[in-house]
Amino acid sequence: MCGIVGCILNKEVAPTIIDSIKKLEYRGYDSVGIATVTDKINVKKGSGKIKEVDDEIHLEDIDGKIGIAHVRWATHGNPTKENAHPHCSCDNKISVVHNGIIENYKELRLELQQEGHTFKSETDTEIIPHLIEKYMNEGNDLLKSTQLTINRLIGSYALAVICTEEPDKIIGARKESPLIVGVSDHGNFLASDVPAILNETRNVIYLEDNEIIQLEKDNVIIMDKDLNPIEKEIVEIDWDPEMAEKGGFDHFMLKEIYEEPQVIKDTLSESSKIKEIVSKFKNFNRICFVACGTSYHASLIGEYLIETQLHIPTEVILASEFEYFQNTLDDHTLVIFITQSGETADTINALKVAKQVSETLAIVNVVGSSVTREAHHVIYTRAGPEIGVAATKTYISQLICIYLLVAHLSENEELIERLYTIPELTEESIEREEDIKIIAKKYKTAKDFFYIGSGFNYPTALEGALKLKEITYIHAEGYPAGELKHGPLALIEDGIPVVGLLPPGPSYSKTFNNLQEIRARGAHMIILGSEEDTKIDDVHDKIVFNQIVDELIAPLIYIIDLQLLSYHISVEKDIDPDKPKNLAKSVTVV
Ligand code: F6R
Repeated sequence: MCGIVGCILNKEVAPTIIDSIKKLEYRGYDSVGIATVTDKINVKKGSGKIKEVDDEIHLEDIDGKIGIAHVRWATHGNPTKENAHPHCSCDNKISVVHNGIIENYKELRLELQQEGHTFKSETDTEIIPHLIEKYMNEGNDLLKSTQLTINRLIGSYALAVICTEEPDKIIGARKESPLIVGVSDHGNFLASDVPAILNETRNVIYLEDNEIIQLEKDNVIIMDKDLNPIEKEIVEIDWDPEMAEKGGFDHFMLKEIYEEPQVIKDTLSESSKIKEIVSKFKNFNRICFVACGTSYHASLIGEYLIETQLHIPTEVILASEFEYFQNTLDDHTLVIFITQSGETADTINALKVAKQVSETLAIVNVVGSSVTREAHHVIYTRAGPEIGVAATKTYISQLICIYLLVAHLSENEELIERLYTIPELTEESIEREEDIKIIAKKYKTAKDFFYIGSGFNYPTALEGALKLKEITYIHAEGYPAGELKHGPLALIEDGIPVVGLLPPGPSYSKTFNNLQEIRARGAHMIILGSEEDTKIDDVHDKIVFNQIVDELIAPLIYIIDLQLLSYHISVEKDIDPDKPKNLAKSVTVV
């Protein structure tokens, strides 16, 4: 996830601004840049970590009392120096840093190119300084030009702009991407997140969507989208630096769970790109998914979706077992690799073999990672960097990509429309955190857990169980509802917690009947189901959802409650959920 900083001081700005941008390193990034304004725009940028770039080009060696800086997490275009921010206008008088995704950048870029603008990068961001330049050339000042520019943007942004024509200010704006203002008597600041400015000030103003800001050394003017000034409260921050990095959350995992509604929105913005990729597929009559761990569970949901919606034979292969199944691949098989890191050794090895005979697609979170360089097609999940070892927001973004893929393959507009309702539904899951905490307290001493689901929700049972194992060290198993009576029922005894996934839909009766059998043997039932389902009124614990959360979309929503349940049991047991024992974020060994 990118991070931006803007700073106006009464002394040279470079040391402060670099110190500030370093505080955003935790967000994950692959390139860095700084721009200041004197009688011209001065820019220094490069690909790599701040220290590496600084060693090479001495970032601090740049004059000016007003500056902007950026750490980039690549989305559009590889992590190169050219794609690193800040980006400038043709006349080099305007410089911009941006966090977010501009969905209509291709159309705007074409329009600007036709008007004679030339571009130096592959980024969506670069259209912003060029649009501002266009409006300034029409006689508008920097503030008005920025407003006219953002009126043209579809997507999300937090941005900071400097300009040689008005060298005493920074203009900022936000929509669906965080931006805060820091105020002090020695200067004023803009940043993506609080840690960036804590060394300078603890007085913060939180900007809301569609607000625009003009930052001067002794003045901060916050305006609505029509440039009418608005009064904002200054909040005093009392977090310690570590807490600040986690956005005030106790752990990265919780922060990342809270980010899921936004991640879903960001990933949905990939819809047209996914449609374009789908149109390029050659003829195929079979699909194979290859993945590990949580990404394997996302693949299983893909299998259920493709088999039921597209009627194409599909199978899911664990990457570590791929060698036993590779011999049946052919040029009519589409092989889909799912990996958040793009660096999982088993997955890379399988991809290298599969691409020799079959068309390959990778669904990946990290731009420029090894898998993206091997696959024929790549779809990016827009989760941003995930720091907690247990996958949470990357899983939900994988699912959104898979649902979009299936919706485009089947030309199912109704499913696409339903996907746009998911962010709001997931907000409701997050609002339930306090209820889930109570359930977590109740079951924190359990030795075993079972997770039961059917159809699309069987993989959710597996993923719920995996999350619990990883961060609470409690033994947990996920089963398809109908499978219990073929063996595992022998393990059910008095008081054992069983999480039942019971959304409305065709698999309801089967799941309900099998859960009844478990209950009759003394299990403690924790049921996730519809708020209108009176048959679950008397279970031990209930987590209920809006009636429209049926079994087709339940995998996109129920999992958030299960992640929260695991998280709170982990915290109750005094385990650090961000760093579970024996596990690594990126598994680069076979
Ligand atoms: C579980 C988890 C792992 C990963 C697995 C694959 O929370 O994170 O199971 O899903 O190691 O990793 P990627 O997706 O990076 O290939």
